[in-house]
Amino acid sequence: MFRSLLRSNPRLTVLRNHITPPLVNQFIQIRTMSVPATMKAVVVEETGGPEVLKFKTSYPVPTPRAGELLVRNNISGVNYIDTYFRTGLYPAPKPEVLGREGAGIVAAVGPQTSGFQVGDRVAWLSTGGYAEYTAVPIAQTAKIPDGISDEDIMASFLSGLTVLAFAKEAYPVQKGDWVLLHAAAGGAGFLMTQILKSIGANVIGTAGGAEKCALVKSLGADVVIDYRSEEDKDWVKKVKEATGGRGVDVVYDSVGKDTWEGSLEAVKRKGTIVWFGNASGPVPPLPLAKLTPKCVKVARPSLFGYIQTREEFEYYTNELFNLLKSGQLKTKIHKIYPLEDIAQVHKDLEGRKTMGKPLLKP
Ligand SMILES: NC(=O)c1ccc[n+]([C@@H]2O[C@H](COP(=O)([O-])OP(=O)(O)OC[C@H]3O[C@@H](n4cnc5c(N)ncnc54)[C@H](OP(=O)(O)O)[C@@H]3O)[C@@H](O)[C@H]2O)c1
Repeated sequence: MFRSLLRSNPRLTVLRNHITPPLVNQFIQIRTMSVPATMKAVVVEETGGPEVLKFKTSYPVPTPRAGELLVRNNISGVNYIDTYFRTGLYPAPKPEVLGREGAGIVAAVGPQTSGFQVGDRVAWLSTGGYAEYTAVPIAQTAKIPDGISDEDIMASFLSGLTVLAFAKEAYPVQKGDWVLLHAAAGGAGFLMTQILKSIGANVIGTAGGAEKCALVKSLGADVVIDYRSEEDKDWVKKVKEATGGRGVDVVYDSVGKDTWEGSLEAVKRKGTIVWFGNASGPVPPLPLAKLTPKCVKVARPSLFGYIQTREEFEYYTNELFNLLKSGQLKTKIHKIYPLEDIAQVHKDLEGRKTMGKPLLKP
């Protein structure tokens, strides 16, 4: 705009002839938002434990390419999936700035990129959220409606879209269904319990410890099982008792290694298991014949598989925004950690110390 102003106004010819390109660029940046050359970021150079999360104070700010925005993150979400990329369970090129989601302000718009402008408040799904700035594709970026805080959106964006998509498409939950949900007090579980209850399902939630179980109960779960307690460690028996010996219509299992066999026992004949995470380690290769006696169906979904098109992304983001705005979906933030404490966040997540969603303040 500054360049075209110079071009269109003859009185500014002198100025135009004497302004050097770097100075023009500087003006253009001031008209938009000044972006520093370096930023704070957490970088993983090699896979490993929480100690490989390296806090840097002068990491280069990325440049948005065509179809991208540069977002100055106000708050970022920490998800269990981040630990998989850290350990290498999910391979990704390193060095890598982890973090699959953020909320903040558009600081710059890449070339040939429309629909967004500098200053827009947005939430995005991509990679690189453990940083002050992230270059993100517009395909999975949404403007945050007025009335929803950045904190509320980060406590529910990746996790909320996941549970909405999985309750509708991985298995279409119906009113009256019996549903077993593991880790029901976690970032995704806290939201899933509410969504399942709003559909009218009967929810059996598992969680580790009295405090987590009380939280799940407060959300309206019909049966809550402390699967780490001595009393409830035979949680399959409890599920069978609750369902009159029949088993549940569907299991949502994100714990994986420690629960997969029990989940197979707890599901009813012709039931469905949605395995969607590896909090305790991945489900080992499963002989298909194990599904035969009860004619069990298995899904192994990923959120990103359900929101690949802009239409799909907008469908679920609009549903989430409406639920948040109307107050029908509550969020729970475990704690907002400063960026430099990221190793502690991973330790807390993997140590099963979090309830609801941990967030990061870049
Ligand atoms: N497929 C997808 O697209 C997708 C998308 C989002 C999330 N997910 C999956 O959903 C799950 C939840 O994600 P989240 O970010 O919301 O995490 P989270 O549920 O807040 O944290 C994981 C929870 O898993 C439980 N857990 C059971 N055994 C564990 C073990 N050995 N080590 C650590 N935790 C254990 C813990 O709850 P208790 O103490 O109550 O047992 C822990 O709090 C993860 O498995 C994640 O990968 C998948």
